[in-house]
Amino acid sequence: MPFTDYKTALVTGASTGMGAAIAELLAKRGLMVHVAARNEERLKELAERSGAIPHTVDLTDTAAVAAELGGLEVDVLVNCAGVSRPGNILSSSEEDLDEIIDVNLRGLLQLTRLILPGMVNRDLGHVINISSIAGLYNFYGHTAYHATKAAVHQISRQLRNDTVGKRIRVTEICPGRVETEIFGRNMGGTPEAMEEAWKTYYEGYESLTTEDIVNAVDYAIETPRHVNVGMIELMPTFQVPGGLTFDRR
Ligand SMILES: NC(=O)c1ccc[n+]([C@@H]2O[C@H](COP(=O)([O-])OP(=O)(O)OC[C@H]3O[C@@H](n4cnc5c(N)ncnc54)[C@H](OP(=O)(O)O)[C@@H]3O)[C@@H](O)[C@H]2O)c1
Repeated sequence: MPFTDYKTALVTGASTGMGAAIAELLAKRGLMVHVAARNEERLKELAERSGAIPHTVDLTDTAAVAAELGGLEVDVLVNCAGVSRPGNILSSSEEDLDEIIDVNLRGLLQLTRLILPGMVNRDLGHVINISSIAGLYNFYGHTAYHATKAAVHQISRQLRNDTVGKRIRVTEICPGRVETEIFGRNMGGTPEAMEEAWKTYYEGYESLTTEDIVNAVDYAIETPRHVNVGMIELMPTFQVPGGLTFDRR
């Protein structure tokens, strides 16, 4: 019954998508939930409907993250914030590369560095990292996105070693395609881009929903305290991992 072991949570990327849905679940399970993202308005709405405590912060700003979140006592840390970009290394801008690395990797590591020692001191905690099938399999997608998600996969395993002997669990949730704003944001984030992304990536497909991700998080936390669910890979039934592409010349 580990939900009863935990009192507090911190969820990044909680202004929308998986992060918002996970934050609502944790609040429903009785935890005091801190939620972090840049969009103040959306965090406020989430706070109103769930009782979560909003923290408007840019994860790429380590000093701001330390000031806003570094002092929190957190039992369940959900590293969910993430960004991607269209194209790959051949078409990437300098800013795109930096942002993907800064949010998906540097931000995640810096926040974990700030929060994990408290878990170790209290001998209690659960870190949940949202990676992606892009971290495990090769397919068309941004090079840096694949690289950062592979890093999140490896970090999740390494944290187990870093905290060996402590009652700290680490779970990587590794999703295939989920219905969220991520593709619309990739395409510019305007209402038109959101609509275009919906038509391109979701319409006519049976993608995962944020509820599927929430159920996986719920399961990983609710397992008995001697069980560490290391990784859950979730994919739509009609999506396959990897795939071999052979260009004819
Ligand atoms: N959707 C998919 O198909 C899919 C598949 C596999 C893995 N994932 C991963 O799942 C996680 C959640 O993605 P999602 O699909 O729910 O995406 P989403 O709907 O685009 O949400 C992304 C979240 O990250 C936050 N964020 C972005 N940049 C930030 C920054 N600099 N500082 C703080 N917060 C920031 C956003 O909040 P603000 O803009 O308010 O800051 C937002 O809350 C990501 O790590 C993503 O890579 C997604």
